Amino acid sequence: MIMQRILVIDDDPLIRRQLEELFTERKYTVDTANDAEEARSLLEESEYALAVVDLKIPGTDGLSLTKEVRERWPDLDVIIVTGYASIKGAVDAIRYGAADYITKPFQREEILLATEKILEKRSLIDEITYLRSQLSDRYSFANMVSRNRAMHEIFGTIESLADNDVTVLLQGDSGTGKELCARAIHFQGRRKGGRFVAINCAAFPDTLLEAELFGYERGAFTGAVHDRVGKIELSSGGTLFLDEVESISLPMQLKLLRVLEQREIEKLGGNRLVKVNMRVIAATNRNLEEMVSRGEMREDFFYRINVVPIQIPPLRDRIEDIPLLVNEMLKNNPMARERNITRVSNKALQALMSYSWGGNVRELGNVLERAILRTSGPIIKEVGLPAAGTSPPSASTSTRSRDYELPLKEFIKKAEREYVTALLRRNRGGISATAQHAMIDAATLHRKMKAHGLKRDDFREARRESSRAQG
Ligand SMILES: Nc1ncnc2c1ncn2[C@@H]1O[C@H](COP(=O)(O)OP(=O)(O)OP(=O)(O)O)[C@@H](O)[C@H]1O
Ligand SMILES: [Mg+2]
Repeated sequence: MIMQRILVIDDDPLIRRQLEELFTERKYTVDTANDAEEARSLLEESEYALAVVDLKIPGTDGLSLTKEVRERWPDLDVIIVTGYASIKGAVDAIRYGAADYITKPFQREEILLATEKILEKRSLIDEITYLRSQLSDRYSFANMVSRNRAMHEIFGTIESLADNDVTVLLQGDSGTGKELCARAIHFQGRRKGGRFVAINCAAFPDTLLEAELFGYERGAFTGAVHDRVGKIELSSGGTLFLDEVESISLPMQLKLLRVLEQREIEKLGGNRLVKVNMRVIAATNRNLEEMVSRGEMREDFFYRINVVPIQIPPLRDRIEDIPLLVNEMLKNNPMARERNITRVSNKALQALMSYSWGGNVRELGNVLERAILRTSGPIIKEVGLPAAGTSPPSASTSTRSRDYELPLKEFIKKAEREYVTALLRRNRGGISATAQHAMIDAATLHRKMKAHGLKRDDFREARRESSRAQG
């Protein structure tokens, strides 16, 4: 149940009493303040659902106080009471952030109606906020959040991996959360007491990779002045995470294959065999089967690492995760926490959910981080996404609407956005041509474009650029 506490700010004692009686009758809790000073100290003490502010109050004026209140307590709605009905007064009241305004002398019904309308909306918002916080708990696993069915199957798989040492191959586009998944497998499993040792195989040329993985003994080569323990040995008892496994050369694949089969290594420059015992997790954003068929990866190595394959879906195929991810990221971002930034506006959320996310969850994190830097209030209103027409086309555009994991409503919404985008692109932003093709009127098209965050100019831009490229 939400708190229904109302603050009345008016220097006229008669009005104060009148409003107090009226609200108390309706079972609201009421406090009154004579001026801005008193109002501020009350606002700092208690949490109010609504403030009723007179336009003329001592210490400041009602409009400035409204503005101040809306900035400092953005969840608090304000009704302004004005002495005279003027359009300008009304416009100002709304512009300064008031939810409504009432002119004196007012009717009881009039003010009660306005109050109820506002409080009802507020209780809805409270409920959404509450549900949002519930969602995060229900939909989190290890450090991952998701409410997507495919992702939940992955969570289930990870759980089933907890009490064995089976090798896992994580496949997914860049930024989908492969490393996060690998860590979850390690830390949920029985090897969590051992080390999680990650190595990015793309970061080293062949000879260095070998030294990194296998370690060496002093004097193995020029520069090897100390013994060095390799990552494989280091991971013994824990997990070895071979990131970007596709970049391992064919000869190195053979060496690793032997390790995986025999569970022992020979250090460079040594003649001693060291027993190792670790779980191996490999990750890639490439299609390894294709690499095998092209001879770029050894078939036997591929089968060795592809014991339990896990395919992580791209973010654009689970846009229902975006609100959860945003929530999670805001909770974990130190600057957002410091500045009390708790959510993004619905409009911004809609923009986030309509974007194509070529860089997946990582890109979402980056976009949000930039938005946090630019935001001063408690709510992120602008997320600054690249325009729709210029966002990098995703790899599998043609299969995008075939995502049956989504709830029907989201599926249809997504398909509609793709449809409108494609037509606008084809018609270079031409509204009447697009509307005609879709057999809808121009106003409907405008409405849909707005709902999906599509701007006509982005498609015109494409025309200019392509004609430049051709000419
Ligand atoms: N389900 C999720 N819940 C919360 N955060 C996530 C989730 N998935 C990914 N992230 C975050 O997104 C970022 C990218 O994830 P990660 O590094 O695991 O991706 P990756 O697939 O390894 O990317 P790359 O291929 O670029 O190496 C990280 O900051 C990670 O914490
Ligand atoms: Mg990674």
